[in-house]
Amino acid sequence: MFGRIARRYDLMNSLITLGQDARWRRRVAGALDGLPPSARVLDVGTGTGRLAEAVEEQLSGPTVIGVDFTVPMLRLAAHGLRRAAADALSLPFADGQFDGVVSGFLVRNLADLERGLAEQVRVLRPGGVLAILETTPGPPTWPISALFHLYFRMLVPVLGKLVAGDATAYTYLPESTLRFVRPAQLEKRLRALGLVDVHVDLMMFGSVALTTARKRGYPSRPGEVL
Ligand SMILES: C[S@@+](CC[C@H](N)C(=O)[O-])C[C@H]1O[C@@H](n2cnc3c(N)ncnc32)[C@H](O)[C@@H]1O
Repeated sequence: MFGRIARRYDLMNSLITLGQDARWRRRVAGALDGLPPSARVLDVGTGTGRLAEAVEEQLSGPTVIGVDFTVPMLRLAAHGLRRAAADALSLPFADGQFDGVVSGFLVRNLADLERGLAEQVRVLRPGGVLAILETTPGPPTWPISALFHLYFRMLVPVLGKLVAGDATAYTYLPESTLRFVRPAQLEKRLRALGLVDVHVDLMMFGSVALTTARKRGYPSRPGEVL
């Protein structure tokens, strides 16, 4: 499905989020602010690489690697981005390789959420930062919730058909979002995996969440800011 919509994916994101997606990605990059310039960061489900680019732009000098299993999406990423075709449920990296692991709009798509999260935690070094940007099942309070559902369930599929020529993919977007766990449940799962300092930042009336956490342990690099 992501292969089918790859060419129109970035444009659709800007339209659906009214241009807010770029700002949200900068917030993810901001969550990695304390990492040293020599940091290694993994962007899981990088797609067209926009989140990886935001991290590269905002932090000076990190090595960012983007992985995704949809090659047509990866092909559209900026030329300079280090990238690899890989499954988020079985990351081809040794334990503790990364100072930061980020993902944008990936985790609700995972066939096995527990395993995907466990993989991200496994490749993170002790003291490293995890940042997950994802849509939520929606704002909890009426009338915003009603407007959100109307927009997401009725207008987004029409936009998907008109702009990306694929109503199915943009029907999957609201459906997978509404099926996904609420931010508090995601937070609970991260704590169960042993992560600490778990923090949820809600945006766009609670329809998007940035969840950050830290892997228990000590920084391995001298001078690193915690
Ligand atoms: C909604 S897109 C997000 C792309 C990008 N991260 C962004 O911020 O726009 C979800 C991406 O996750 C990828 N994806 C979904 N499940 C995956 C998996 N198990 N392994 C690797 N990539 C996966 C899809 O191929 C797709 O490119």
